Amino acid sequence: MEKTSLSRALSKLGYCSRTSAASLIRTGEVSVNGKKIKSPSYRVDLRKDRIEVNDSCLTKRTPLVIMLHKPAGYITTSSDELSRRTVMDLVPRETHVFAVGRLDCDTTGLLILTNDGELANEITSPGRKIMKTYEVTVNGKVSEGHLKKLLGGVEITDGVSVHADKCVIDFADSLKTKLTVTIHEGKNRQIKRMFDAIGKKVFNLHRSAIGNLKLDLPEGTWRELSQEEVRLILE
Ligand code: URA
Repeated sequence: MEKTSLSRALSKLGYCSRTSAASLIRTGEVSVNGKKIKSPSYRVDLRKDRIEVNDSCLTKRTPLVIMLHKPAGYITTSSDELSRRTVMDLVPRETHVFAVGRLDCDTTGLLILTNDGELANEITSPGRKIMKTYEVTVNGKVSEGHLKKLLGGVEITDGVSVHADKCVIDFADSLKTKLTVTIHEGKNRQIKRMFDAIGKKVFNLHRSAIGNLKLDLPEGTWRELSQEEVRLILE
């Protein structure tokens, strides 16, 4: 997530206007992570930094976790220099959430957004091996031999091998095969690169679940998750 100036941060948090914030900062009433800061342009990260005005903390927000059904055509980033549409355009700005992991611009499906850095780290930690389930459509017929390779491990870059934890064919004809694929790693463009490695091109990719949490929203919409639902991701 992008950093912002301390004066803008105070106004983003709804504390006061940027002008009033600048004078509060100059008079030494604002601290960041326990240190008094007198420069309104001092850069802060609203996700991580603890901002206090006269010893009362503004950034202690209740953790917010959002499920978003990402449509194709949106990039997973907080801000884009080229002004392309981002997933942040689909959720209210004032939530101050950021995406947990990423989906390619043309990938649809379940994306988690949160303002809780620790939770995000837990979900993406390789050690937790959280399963991600994808509906994949590729060109041509996928054979039993292809499935064996995907489950046994394929090299996606020099010396880096990954494997699918589950791989089931849901539909196949001579033109295309639809599969449900579950992986526990989260390497960049992993599914597409795995199918590339067996000579298949992915032309539709949709994430339907993370852990035991299943996407249950229409495309382009979002909702807040309960603590119970967050546990479904982590269990
Ligand atoms: N794997 C990919 O190739 N792309 C995605 O967006 C997600 C997983």
